[in-house]
Amino acid sequence: MNRVTTVIAPEEIARQRSFCERIAERNAARPAAPLALVDTYGCQQNEADSERLRGYLREMGFAFTDAEAEADVIVINTCAIREHAEQRVLGNVGVLVHTKRAKPEQVICLCGCMAQEPHMAEKIRASYRHVDLVFGPQALWRFPELLWRCLSRGGRVFDTADEPGSIAEGIPVVRQNAFKAWVSIMYGCNNFCSYCIVPYVRGRERSRRPEDILREVEELSAQGYKDITLLGQNVNSYGKDLEEDIDFAGLLERVNAVPGDFLIRFMTSHPKDATERLFDAMAACEKVAPVIHLPFQAGNDRVLKAMNRGYTAEQYLSKVAALRRRVPDIVLTSDVIVGFPGETTAEFEDTLNILEAVRFDALFTFLFSPRQGTPAARMEDPTPKEEKQANFQRLVDLQNAISNEKHQAYVGRTLRCLVDGEGEDPRNTLTARTAGNRLVHLNGDKALIGQYADVTITSASTWALFGELAQGGEGQAQG
Ligand code: SAH
Ligand code: SF4
Ligand code: F3S
Repeated sequence: MNRVTTVIAPEEIARQRSFCERIAERNAARPAAPLALVDTYGCQQNEADSERLRGYLREMGFAFTDAEAEADVIVINTCAIREHAEQRVLGNVGVLVHTKRAKPEQVICLCGCMAQEPHMAEKIRASYRHVDLVFGPQALWRFPELLWRCLSRGGRVFDTADEPGSIAEGIPVVRQNAFKAWVSIMYGCNNFCSYCIVPYVRGRERSRRPEDILREVEELSAQGYKDITLLGQNVNSYGKDLEEDIDFAGLLERVNAVPGDFLIRFMTSHPKDATERLFDAMAACEKVAPVIHLPFQAGNDRVLKAMNRGYTAEQYLSKVAALRRRVPDIVLTSDVIVGFPGETTAEFEDTLNILEAVRFDALFTFLFSPRQGTPAARMEDPTPKEEKQANFQRLVDLQNAISNEKHQAYVGRTLRCLVDGEGEDPRNTLTARTAGNRLVHLNGDKALIGQYADVTITSASTWALFGELAQGGEGQAQG
């Protein structure tokens, strides 16, 4: 099969970096390094994109700040998945009118998924006139050129044309964490679930070459990274656009073979493409964490069909069973939408049945939000808001009981965890994550942050586990 994806030529990325140099020359003439702020909304893909925006900004000579009032450049990386996400962005962008008034030379950039929606780009153009630069996710690789245009010519710059998207290697990156890393393995989505905006704003599915991914993972391992998450909207269709004969299971095997002491995670898996071959690879690869996020969205087959998900409830359950046969202690999480247009309460109860049957460790629950331009936004939606809200509450209550029960089963076990941060409670000064990514609160020396430690779980709640450093492991970093 011929590669259908456009790959940005290395010379083109070098050209972008030459714009970084030009901006760096201007910045070097200033008495102190100018400051940039990157504010990220949405999913891990956006977090990963922001790390590249910061990489470019650092090459331009910017230092970073969290204070909007002192930033010379503000970049807002937006999310369009639900109305609430968009309202938050618009609220926060609106407030920047005041910072810009106090600091007129401030450059305000809005990028990410909202920027790629035509009606939103229009709204920013007409009503948010303090925003100087607007570009969508497909244009991220040319951020230096766009910012240069803004700085050198003045005036507003919009780069939001609809594009299928490309693969750009060699963009510099500033990672936010020293031991957990995101690695995008593919971009875009071809699934067009009827409620979802992502395929419209992120372009077509396209995979990075395995050698580029492996090089990045090797570098991360050599730098001591302990937790590496492979990212894509649907990682299970990895490789379909590549000339090379490789699928996601094959990629996992190759990443697993990279030397080092690290765990591999991945997000997100679409159930229709989750194969027994993938489950076999998960069982066989010792670095692949025993956890999967496998969104099922709804439990009723009519609703699943209207959502264009490509599987039935029964097919979903049989995949979960096949996975559990191979990885018995798999941690399972999922996403659910309540109140899809036309979903009756009787149909919604099929969603509760899936919860009872699978008993997920955790669930992300969403009320349906119509997205302009998607088929679901045009569907009849007769169910009253109150009824949807009541169903939503039933779902949350059932899952909370299940999450609590699942967490209680950890009590008494000793698990190798990655200590990943400081706790907010003075009795539990640290946070850690199990291999299955469950949150653990414990007490210990801050020097353990970034290290593996054996932790004995002593109690649990719906939301988290509580533990202590295992006997003999006190204060001792392992791994
Ligand atoms: N690519 C991922 C999902 C990314 S969006 C996947 O397919 O699993 C994350 C979640 O947001 C989705 O799983 C879905 O549950 C929810 N979501 C997406 N569009 C939505 C909408 N219009 N209204 C409510 N929830 C939505
Ligand atoms: Fe959206 Fe479906 Fe693609 Fe996930 S698979 S990003 S829910 S269209
Ligand atoms: Fe949001 Fe875009 Fe991610 S819409 S969820 S930031 S792909």
